Amino acid sequence: MCGIVGFTGREQAAPILLECLKKLEYRGYDSAGIAVRDSSLPVVIEKTTGKLKALSDRTHGGKALKGMSGIGHTRWATHGAPSVQNAHPHVSGGVRSTVTGVHNGIIENYAELKQKLTDNGYEFYSETDTEVLIKLVDYYYRKYRIGPIDAINRTMVRVKGSYAVALMFDDYPEEIYAARNDSPLVIGTTQDSSFLASDVSAILSRTRSFYYLGNLQAARLKKGKVEFFNLNGDRISIRKKTVDWETDSAEKHGYEHFMLKEIHEQPDVIRRMLDRYIEDEGICICDDQLDESFFQDLKQIIIVACGSAWHAGVAAQYMTEAVTDVPVRVELASEFRYRSMYACKECLFIVISQSGETADSLAALRKAKSLGIRTLAIVNVNGSSIANEADHVILTLAGPEISVATTKAYSAQLIALYLLVIQMAFIRGNLDAVMYSQMIGELKELPDKISSILSDKEKYQRLATVFSSRQDMFFIGRNMDYAICLEGSLKMKEISYIHSEAYAAGELKHGTISLIEDGTVVVGVITCPHIADKTLSNMIECKSRGARLITVTDLEDKGIESVCDYMIKIPSVNGLFMASLAVVPLQLLSYYTSLSRGLDVDKPRNLAKSVTVE
Ligand code: M6R
Repeated sequence: MCGIVGFTGREQAAPILLECLKKLEYRGYDSAGIAVRDSSLPVVIEKTTGKLKALSDRTHGGKALKGMSGIGHTRWATHGAPSVQNAHPHVSGGVRSTVTGVHNGIIENYAELKQKLTDNGYEFYSETDTEVLIKLVDYYYRKYRIGPIDAINRTMVRVKGSYAVALMFDDYPEEIYAARNDSPLVIGTTQDSSFLASDVSAILSRTRSFYYLGNLQAARLKKGKVEFFNLNGDRISIRKKTVDWETDSAEKHGYEHFMLKEIHEQPDVIRRMLDRYIEDEGICICDDQLDESFFQDLKQIIIVACGSAWHAGVAAQYMTEAVTDVPVRVELASEFRYRSMYACKECLFIVISQSGETADSLAALRKAKSLGIRTLAIVNVNGSSIANEADHVILTLAGPEISVATTKAYSAQLIALYLLVIQMAFIRGNLDAVMYSQMIGELKELPDKISSILSDKEKYQRLATVFSSRQDMFFIGRNMDYAICLEGSLKMKEISYIHSEAYAAGELKHGTISLIEDGTVVVGVITCPHIADKTLSNMIECKSRGARLITVTDLEDKGIESVCDYMIKIPSVNGLFMASLAVVPLQLLSYYTSLSRGLDVDKPRNLAKSVTVE
């Protein structure tokens, strides 16, 4: 999704803006641009399509552009093709260009607003909704002869949709204005500089003190000073937050890609989670309101998320139903937000999100709140919209995740869910004290077991070379193994572009098996002993139709080795936690497949790290 940055201070802005935009590259983009301003001179704008490097080369790393305040943008096209014309920043134009701006989000009523502005003499040079937004600010600013904050507020009242916007007004050199509704925006300050960005990682190397602008709020950034306003134009205060992520945690540290680094960080992330949430051999994950009596009375859980976070939810569903008597529904956020459903009062709604900004997940959370359901967010980014709006929050402590394909955040989500389910089962009397301690003990073994999988990377490199030229892959499994397949298959397709699908193994015969032909790769995950034979026989059915078989298993003596072409052996663990182990070989397989196909592992085509528009 688009990324925005802004800076005003006592250094040249352009190199800083480029540096910050570089940190937002992972969000996905197809063009980029910056606008800088030297107080006495007009705004200077540079834009390019393609990679940020083109913009940097064109401006000699930003040195060619003079000015100590500016804004920047990486664009992921929504309205209008990727082109220089459509790239941001956009300007109000006309006799005198008063406003320059960048925007992340979607203005839903842009067509109607464009007509209104056209009727009032405005002309448009791009196909973007952003140009409409900027010109609307300009329209109010000129028509009512009001200040920037009032013009922004009038605009916010008029537009429908999501936006995080950074603006420069010609009449206010050295100041940057910002506003947001539903798209992420963070503001940071140091003694003599102020920054804004779509996320913390973009400006983490510059400051640790952040303000999270709320919906329908605006901000004025001056050098080292920031003021906040509500929709009435009244000054408001926003609490400063300090982020404790390592400054260099968004760096590659010698790894070729962020994805590989993040895969290798998983043991440490899990240790950090367990250290934080297990005290004196007991799980401390609940708060004062999410207490014992709430869990005792709980009648239903609804888990809602998108993509990999949804897959973590599916794993949690199998686990919860195996160890508690609480029914669980797992819904895709994009579906949940528009469907009618009954939810009882004693229900817990759990939203899972790495970014905390996914538009559908946020909308689903708001819907659950409007239904009066108690909400819990399992989220990685503290201060994000989802973290701010949920009744309760469990932070996943994975640190910044840069690669578009999630690995460590997914693993951390699983741990949060395990802890929650174990605690709930214990409170409800589904687990006794011995089983409770045993499970906590087994969780603590996960990091070392993952490390042992990671130490054998040559195996995955070899396998990837063998299979990287294939067109189709199927991931099959039953029960928890199916939940693991969902994630393995998504990892494979999103970064290798190999068509891949996950199927509950028993479903193959109901249609999908007709796709199996000579050379089709079928990856079977077989870790649930009670149904291993069944998945294995489904794999044999595929083999008889020409499939090449890879199996991920911890099981001995099931005859798997003699059937499969390639076997990936993983350590054993309590089956409820198996997703944490079995997903790791699948992550590595996807990584090396993408690598051997020569693809951009960390930034796959068409994808964005956080999907902040619907
Ligand atoms: O930030 P979120 O966890 O809400 O993102 C949800 C999905 O977009 C995300 O998990 C996506 O599927 C992954 N990037 C896939 O690797």
